Amino acid sequence: MKTVIYYFTGTGNTLAVARDLAEELGDTTLIPLRQAIYYGGFAPDADAIGIAFPVHFLIMPAIVRQFVFSILFSGSPYIFGLATCGERPGGALFRLQELLSEKGYTLSAGYSLVMPENYIGPVDLMGDAPCREEKFVKAKSRIPAIAAAIREQRVSVPEGNNSVLLKIGGRITCSLATSMYNTPGRLHATSACNQCGTCARICPTRNITVAKDGVSWGSDCTQCYACIHWCPEEAVDIGGRTAGKPRYHHPDVNVRDMLIQRGEPK
Ligand SMILES: Cc1cc2nc3c(=O)[nH]c(=O)nc-3n(C[C@H](O)[C@H](O)[C@H](O)COP(=O)(O)O)c2cc1C
Ligand code: SF4
Ligand code: SF4
Repeated sequence: MKTVIYYFTGTGNTLAVARDLAEELGDTTLIPLRQAIYYGGFAPDADAIGIAFPVHFLIMPAIVRQFVFSILFSGSPYIFGLATCGERPGGALFRLQELLSEKGYTLSAGYSLVMPENYIGPVDLMGDAPCREEKFVKAKSRIPAIAAAIREQRVSVPEGNNSVLLKIGGRITCSLATSMYNTPGRLHATSACNQCGTCARICPTRNITVAKDGVSWGSDCTQCYACIHWCPEEAVDIGGRTAGKPRYHHPDVNVRDMLIQRGEPK
């Protein structure tokens, strides 16, 4: 069976899980969904199509919505979702189901896996190394059963919670973070920045410019937190909120993988 998994990742969790699933399924191609948006590539010769992404504010990053708006699959393929989250997937996979159905496609199944938290907020949710390790082990242990269900093209209700309260909560939190608190507008480099350029190279939306006079952020931010976590000097902060807080990326994912996601020369 041939499978294609379109993925988006900020700190590698989703890519790591998608890789594990690809290995378990065999004959699977991983395609960065960012590249599919910009360069096309919606004619996969596949028996199953996966859409893998991190949960943001109980739903999904804007770039994933953008991807679903732009897909053009032929026929009625078997489509599954794979969402990674820090603790609560909320209605992310139900939102994916809605978006796909608006395009005339069906989400046949949706799986959510708990991975280390990459949101840095007022409260530390990331957890220590043993807690992260426990999440890796649990997530990996679910892969064989998920692969078996995909192989059998099983149809099931997406995982997560589709309550109206959560839906509204997710939308309010997202809009508070984006419009009122203005997270993207508060991204900045501190004096620890040595202008190495990593943030600009890995940002999936090409929203960062590094010039002689400093680092600047544009208006196309999908809030993936990649620039914050991948900066080798820990010099990227959101206002004063993230200063001194631990950074994270999945141990099996590296800057090169982030460049591949961007479509940069390897
Ligand atoms: C802006 C933002 C919002 C997030 N919102 C949620 C959330 O609502 N629920 C949750 O469990 N995790 C949330 N997370 C954590 C991520 O979903 C989780 O760490 C995910 O595995 C990251 O995947 P990635 O490394 O592929 O980007 C959020 C992370 C970010 C950056
Ligand atoms: S990755 Fe960090 S150190 Fe490098 S240019 Fe960006 S902010 Fe500066
Ligand atoms: S600016 Fe930072 S948080 Fe925004 S999309 Fe780029 S890497 Fe992600």
